[in-house]
Amino acid sequence: MLFFFDNTICSVFPVDKHWINWVLFFNFCFQKSLKSVLSKAFHMKVTILNNIAKSGLDILEKEGFTLHQNDVLDGCSGIVLRSQNLTQEKLPKSIFGIARAGAGTNNINVEDCSQNGVIVFNTPGANANAVKEMVLCSLILGKRDLVSGNKSIDAIDIDNMDDEAVMKEIEGMKKKYVGNEIKNKNLTVIGLGAIGSLVAEHAIQLGMNVTGYDPGLTVETALRLPSSIRMAKSLEDSFKDAEYISLHIPLVPDTKEIINNKLIAKLNKSVLINFSRGGIVCEESLLEGLDQNFLYKYVTDFPTKKLINRVRSKKDVVIFPHLGASTTESEINCAEMACSQLADFLKKGKIVNSVNFPNISSEKVSKHRIYFSNMNEPGIISKVADVLAQENINIDEFVNKSRNNLASNIIDSDDDITPRILDKLMKIKGVTNARLCY
Ligand SMILES: NC(=O)c1ccc[n+]([C@@H]2O[C@H](COP(=O)([O-])OP(=O)(O)OC[C@H]3O[C@@H](n4cnc5c(N)ncnc54)[C@H](O)[C@@H]3O)[C@@H](O)[C@H]2O)c1
Repeated sequence: MLFFFDNTICSVFPVDKHWINWVLFFNFCFQKSLKSVLSKAFHMKVTILNNIAKSGLDILEKEGFTLHQNDVLDGCSGIVLRSQNLTQEKLPKSIFGIARAGAGTNNINVEDCSQNGVIVFNTPGANANAVKEMVLCSLILGKRDLVSGNKSIDAIDIDNMDDEAVMKEIEGMKKKYVGNEIKNKNLTVIGLGAIGSLVAEHAIQLGMNVTGYDPGLTVETALRLPSSIRMAKSLEDSFKDAEYISLHIPLVPDTKEIINNKLIAKLNKSVLINFSRGGIVCEESLLEGLDQNFLYKYVTDFPTKKLINRVRSKKDVVIFPHLGASTTESEINCAEMACSQLADFLKKGKIVNSVNFPNISSEKVSKHRIYFSNMNEPGIISKVADVLAQENINIDEFVNKSRNNLASNIIDSDDDITPRILDKLMKIKGVTNARLCY
């Protein structure tokens, strides 16, 4: 393609000057449209739908993104959110990625996103330390009634007592709240992922004997686990001799009410800690287990009407209003992780921690990079390569990763990629999204 004409050419070749002007004009338009594709790639807009920690937003701004703190999704390339419900929203075609600052993604229509090549990210492990600290606190609360001890101070009639009488009443209370230490006690941790592995590690440091159970343990997590942890062969086995049990598994159909009366009946005045999800424990079996002294205490982040009622009449349940991840540090970690993952994807096509698409990344080797997603079916990649060959695009590197029925791809080339080429790629059946990263 001839990009630059000037009067010298006219003087050398006897061509009509008007004709040259038209060529110059078309060339100018071509350059402009090419520039607009490239500048679109570099100046993308991201919509922020919830209160996201500033340090996360700073990452996006530093990377050159324009942030919109409102509900307007049209024209935006990405979304960062916490709990806003997007399940009923029809997402505009401009959206390529959604980053959820947190673990769960049930406020996003992930299935719909997968069909349209929209990458959904979450932030696994970003709140693990916050939950771990709550669990360590709950282990201590398990057999030391600090909650009632604290409440009983409120009941002292200080208006009608002198200092000495108050001190005497406080000394009298001490006997009532004698508890047990956690050192040398047996703790079973069910689920040894981001949170469970930290709980196991720190409980060992506090002197506990830890047994773990996780049939889906990854090699990466297994290597992180302390060597003194005993691994149980089954859930039943893990309950044997357990004085404390802490649950760190997701609530999925397979784990619903997995903690039932059969397992609870294996215990003897044990403490059950549940910072995972309420539905993992069968409530009827739990209350029966407390009544029959299989369980000494239940500490959980998931109040229900029955549990609140129990707290009002007995001291064997301690409940919190879902506070496990509620720390400033955890909100910052989640925001930073969500924003940097989205920025990396929009700028470089890199994917980590997506709940629907496979991880992909590649070092920059050429001037331009195309990212495209497709259904993981035969023949699509060869059609993409055909389109690029027809357009004289030389491929320097092609990375393809698949997971189940979806695939992510990165193509690097030194040749200029026009909007027309991207349109042609998008028209291939099975290609769900295609764009220029740089
Ligand atoms: N209370 C809160 O505020 C809060 C905050 C964050 C997470 N959570 C809950 O904690 C759970 C765990 O979080 P995470 O970040 O450690 O998740 P994770 O994905 O890192 O780890 C979960 C682990 O559970 C294991 N697992 C799955 N099914 C199992 C089973 N039947 N038996 C034993 N192990 C099983 C998996 O193999 C995995 O290793 C989450 O699913 C979430 O429900 C609660």
